Amino acid sequence: MAGSGPPIDETAVGQRYADWFSRGLRGIGMRYVFSRRGLWVINTPYRRILAAAHIGPQDHVLDLGCGIGNILIALAERIAFARPPIGVDVSPALIDIGRGEIRKAGLDQKIELRAAPATRLPFDDASFDVVLTSHVIKHLDDEALAACFHEVARLLGPGGRFLMWEFKKSPLSAPLFISARATGLPPPFTLRSEPTLRSALTQAGFARVNRVPTGWFIAPPVPRIALLATR
Ligand SMILES: C[S@@+](CC[C@H](N)C(=O)[O-])C[C@H]1O[C@@H](n2cnc3c(N)ncnc32)[C@H](O)[C@@H]1O
Repeated sequence: MAGSGPPIDETAVGQRYADWFSRGLRGIGMRYVFSRRGLWVINTPYRRILAAAHIGPQDHVLDLGCGIGNILIALAERIAFARPPIGVDVSPALIDIGRGEIRKAGLDQKIELRAAPATRLPFDDASFDVVLTSHVIKHLDDEALAACFHEVARLLGPGGRFLMWEFKKSPLSAPLFISARATGLPPPFTLRSEPTLRSALTQAGFARVNRVPTGWFIAPPVPRIALLATR
């Protein structure tokens, strides 16, 4: 697979996020911006992007790298799903915080969260209609990205949709690298271009890949790429 990033330890990434979310004032800030209420800050145009997947009540939805469940909570507030959407994250600590967020939102039994890595998903073949992932694949090294995309293809039945968005590899993303070097945050990551992601999706067995217009993100104000891949 095309790409040149260094190896990334997925368990260590989850642990870094857990530390980031639990310590002092930074923890409070992070729990806010990654919550349902904070979506307007770091995921400003999420509704516009989600619209591309045409998610409806009959869809079984998986959110990969769901953090504390922000996107699934926002979806379940608007859509009465026939089957609870499922979120997975590599960090058990974030899953625990997410379950609390779901309770606070009054969505107990309406969303399920589980700790699992994006590379080994504990679900049957063709068990989902839609897989989402927001701001996660940068934390996957090349081998893990290929494994993750194969897992997503396995979980989606014919016509299943995989919607992803992430920081884009671009000179305008330099501020992110500078802030990462200065603060040690976020955990290790690698940004990829659209052709690299398209090629990885095609190799994983996706028949069609379409670019989704993202609109503007407030923070951090660096370009994103969004793609909708169909089985
Ligand atoms: C920037 S946060 C994004 C959270 C949420 N998707 C959002 O957009 O607000 C990245 C999340 O990806 C999770 N993550 C990173 N690597 C992962 C992996 N290999 N498998 C599953 N989750 C992972 C982290 O634990 C963290 O919760």
